Amino acid sequence: MTNPLVSLDKAAKQRALSKILKKRRGKFEGNSDVTARRLEEEVPETFYHFDKFAEYQQIKMHKAAADHFLVNSPFFQVHDGCARDTTWIDGKEVINFGTYNYLDLNGNPEINAAVSNAIERYGVSASASRLVAGERMPHQSLEQALAKLYNVDAALTFVGGHSTNVNTIATLLGGKDLVIHDQLIHNSIKQGVLLSGATRQIFPHNDWKELDGLLSRSRHRFEKVLICIEGLYSMDGDIPDLKRFVEISRKYNVLLMVDEAHSLGVLGDTGKGLAEHFGIDPREVDIWMGTMSKTLGSCGGYIAGSRALIEILQYSAPGFVYSVGMPPALAVGVEKAIELMLREPERVSRLKSNGQYFLSLAKEHGLETGRAQGFNVIPVVTGNSLHAVRLSHALLKEGIAVSPIVHPAVEENQARLRFFITSSHNENQLRYTVETVAKLIKEGIPQQAL
Ligand SMILES: Cc1ncc(COP(=O)(O)O)c(C=O)c1O
Repeated sequence: MTNPLVSLDKAAKQRALSKILKKRRGKFEGNSDVTARRLEEEVPETFYHFDKFAEYQQIKMHKAAADHFLVNSPFFQVHDGCARDTTWIDGKEVINFGTYNYLDLNGNPEINAAVSNAIERYGVSASASRLVAGERMPHQSLEQALAKLYNVDAALTFVGGHSTNVNTIATLLGGKDLVIHDQLIHNSIKQGVLLSGATRQIFPHNDWKELDGLLSRSRHRFEKVLICIEGLYSMDGDIPDLKRFVEISRKYNVLLMVDEAHSLGVLGDTGKGLAEHFGIDPREVDIWMGTMSKTLGSCGGYIAGSRALIEILQYSAPGFVYSVGMPPALAVGVEKAIELMLREPERVSRLKSNGQYFLSLAKEHGLETGRAQGFNVIPVVTGNSLHAVRLSHALLKEGIAVSPIVHPAVEENQARLRFFITSSHNENQLRYTVETVAKLIKEGIPQQAL
């Protein structure tokens, strides 16, 4: 059907259009009460009142369920002091398994002093995007230190670890591409894929054979393909066979990205991570990603790799171009943390022996530790979310702080307590904890409010 407006001259078109618009406006202006009522009827409150949003209703439902089962919320607990092997809750010092401070670098006096001096010089903010407003020496110096750590050309820092993954993936991939990731990959990678518009495929946890099969069937359908794995899985504490993943990435001409959030400072003799653990040249991996919120004791994320990769991100990742740079004082702190990690490898070996000790004790006591390999992350699987929350409350009463991980972070039958082990825990703390967990589980987890 031809558009009747097409055959009209310009003035006639104008007249016809304003007639149509007037008619439409009249519909709403003619009887405003009726219109308002109709609009109200047509648009459900769930679309414009936050307290009616489905998301909010779900939070309320979880709170009601917690009240029903007589458990206090384990979330947003207030702690005092620096998060180390112990922490302060309600004025009481308790053994702490809820911190990422794997090498006890957060709170280190040498780092604190360097950061204090940097605050005197730079204040506490970078105040604008580095691209347009300029950067400070600590940004460049930290990025050089990160590139050196990975033995790659260059590195780039972002203000958040989560946003590093989101921005990197969304910048590098698009609608004709594929991201294929481990089943247990972190949320930030999934969010990046969603934003990128790339197709997403999942391979079973650590199963490089399945990955090989999937790529053999689907590689040809896509332009760029990115494999995403973690250096050490944050819920389970196990590691991938990096050699196999490198081989596969070369076999199919695809990119390989490793998220080292939980493996930097933990794996390898000097804490350099997964590549050091396997004795592999880090240049075999296309994208190294890490966070500065864990071993490095601060906040932010980084990407390390080839010069071209870093320049693409520097000039086009929205979370870098249109966002502020990390505070220079924090960059100084992170660089100091890297220096200390390399200067004092005994921190890394202490962390390893603590992890092994905790795991072997837990096994001796019959605790279900899943796939944990005895590094910094060791779960004790309780089976359901309510058990995990109750056990966590009961342990706090015994002087042990450990977070429950509940559905939807893990499958409902895989709810767990997640123990983060650090280099500063001592044998007594570890033994007391395992014995107490085992005792509480044996006695039956208390049912009453804790
Ligand atoms: C594997 C992984 N990647 C990325 C992140 C995000 O890092 P950040 O907490 O520094 O934003 C996390 C956070 O825990 C993580 O576990």
